[in-house]
Amino acid sequence: MELARTEERIRGVCEDWREDGLQIGFVPTMGALHSGHTSLVDISLERADRTVVSIFVNPTQFGEKEDLDAYPRDPESDANALREMGVDAVFLPSEEEMYPPGYSTYVEVEGVSDGLCGSFRPGHFRGVATVCTVLFRILRPHLAVFGRKDAQQLAVIRRLVRDLRLDVEVVAGPIVREPDGLALSSRNSYLSRLEREQATALYRGLLRAEGLAGEGRTDPAALRSAVRAEIESQPLLSAQYVELVDPSTMRPLERLDRRGLLAVAVFAGRTRLIDNILIDPPENREEGAG
Ligand code: PAJ
Repeated sequence: MELARTEERIRGVCEDWREDGLQIGFVPTMGALHSGHTSLVDISLERADRTVVSIFVNPTQFGEKEDLDAYPRDPESDANALREMGVDAVFLPSEEEMYPPGYSTYVEVEGVSDGLCGSFRPGHFRGVATVCTVLFRILRPHLAVFGRKDAQQLAVIRRLVRDLRLDVEVVAGPIVREPDGLALSSRNSYLSRLEREQATALYRGLLRAEGLAGEGRTDPAALRSAVRAEIESQPLLSAQYVELVDPSTMRPLERLDRRGLLAVAVFAGRTRLIDNILIDPPENREEGAG
């Protein structure tokens, strides 16, 4: 496995593969890898001839009061795990490598970056869109795999790729969960034992809403309050938002008359957790849309 720390090195590796006619799959990460990340790596290993994983805790997507300095980092063990999986190259750039002195260009994806997490993390998706654009330019992958866990990020990246005619296929991977339903996240390691127990309410609430939709409920207010009720029954949790939106535009749905994304952000103590579920209206279900 190639472990490249410089743009020049990884660019050369990818260029050689492309010249040999090999398909390059790419999985961008911020490291502290768990099975959510490795499930995306598996998709790339399956779909592409060569797989590159980047590990870069991207400062431009963190707000001033966010956890950039505290963000868990363990690049050596991440690289070892990726080597064992059969990953072909890891790109582990420094901050200066990605943002050399004088760096001043940012990518803003309007509309889809607003609402949900965008309302509470100003500048977050600008940072994500910027770093992904730079990474796509350096590696020029044929496909890039993103998790559905970060549903708004996925929508932002799809919009970015379409608008800027970036020549990369965006592939979405399903959310990987703990046995009790909690979506895997690097931030779960911040949770106390009690917070961890109560955090299972996010997915329980989403499933309750899905159940209501299955019974024919299509009003967003009913679906949203099913999630809120589950969260509010846990004293250490407080909901930041619960929204039912169109999965591509992130605009609120007035009725569940097509596939909707029910998304939630919660504080468990000081740790912010997100989760979501795609819900189809009852009439679409039999066609296997779920
Ligand atoms: P990070 O939080 O490290 O996540 C990397 C990828 O793993 C993202 O596509 C995310 O959606 C996916 N992921 C995380 N938890 C998951 C889970 N439980 N199930 C499935 N997929 C999961 O997202 C980022 O990094 C950054 O914003 C990045 C895209 C790398 C840009 O800096």
